[in-house]
Amino acid sequence: MTDRYAVIGNPISHSKSPAIHMIFAAVTGQDISYEALLVPKDGFAGAVDAFRAAGGRGLNVTTPFKLDAAAYATRLLSRAELAGAVNAMSFDGAAVVADNFDGAGLVRDIVANLGCALRGRRVLLLGAGGAARGALQPLLGECPAEVAIANRDAAKADGLAEQFAPYGTVSAMSMDALRLQPGGFDVVINATSSSLHGGMPDIAGAVFGPGCLAYDMVYSQGLTPFLRLAREAGAARLADGVGMLVEQAAEAFAWWRGVRPDTRAVIAQMTV
Ligand code: ATR
Repeated sequence: MTDRYAVIGNPISHSKSPAIHMIFAAVTGQDISYEALLVPKDGFAGAVDAFRAAGGRGLNVTTPFKLDAAAYATRLLSRAELAGAVNAMSFDGAAVVADNFDGAGLVRDIVANLGCALRGRRVLLLGAGGAARGALQPLLGECPAEVAIANRDAAKADGLAEQFAPYGTVSAMSMDALRLQPGGFDVVINATSSSLHGGMPDIAGAVFGPGCLAYDMVYSQGLTPFLRLAREAGAARLADGVGMLVEQAAEAFAWWRGVRPDTRAVIAQMTV
């Protein structure tokens, strides 16, 4: 029998997840279906109830439901608990187990695919919302020299730095402070939601140090404004979030199906 999976969000029509998971299923010989579920913003729980009642085995969760999913789950695995957000759920009878693979996907893309080791590097993380929160523990797990969090609202960055201090060297500053002391980082990650609206954080080109990797968690046709600035400022390498998307999908697929698909060809296919 074909096992049903889906990604749930609003909006959802742009999602590449169905295409990615169907390629994974084909190359690993898994008999699954994977659809995109568009759900009203106040309709998360009802839609998930219906999906489970119809035999659904698992869901990926995207904006704006990552917090609803954390509330819905009967068991949060540690990464989801730390991130306070869920991006994958697995259903087994009454049990709803939830995890968050976003940060693991980001780190795998940077370290394995882009060949940029993080150990001993200075990392700047722009933003202190859900995307930044999900990235912090996996980033710190790579033992960088430091992760500096910069956010417009400095109090939010302070809160994250305090929460994640047990996992490594992490500091916080406002975007204003970053403009005054941009500091030349080895890796600069844009985890703000600004690219989604065609904008970018107000940063100086000097944040990009020599040999810097600039990484935008958002993917788009062409360069995002953040990546354009990075290119103009001389960043050595530019990457958008396609690799992260494919890697987090592979983590979820492996969790659900017990087999991890190869990702390189899929990333190349999604990038054209
Ligand atoms: P997500 O789940 O995508 O992280 P979020 O939790 O709403 O979304 O967080 C959005 C993040 O993007 C915040 O860090 C926000 O900064 P503030 O906390 O100061 O509002 C940041 N952000 C959004 N638009 C931005 C912009 N134009 N410039 C800088 N930061 C921006």
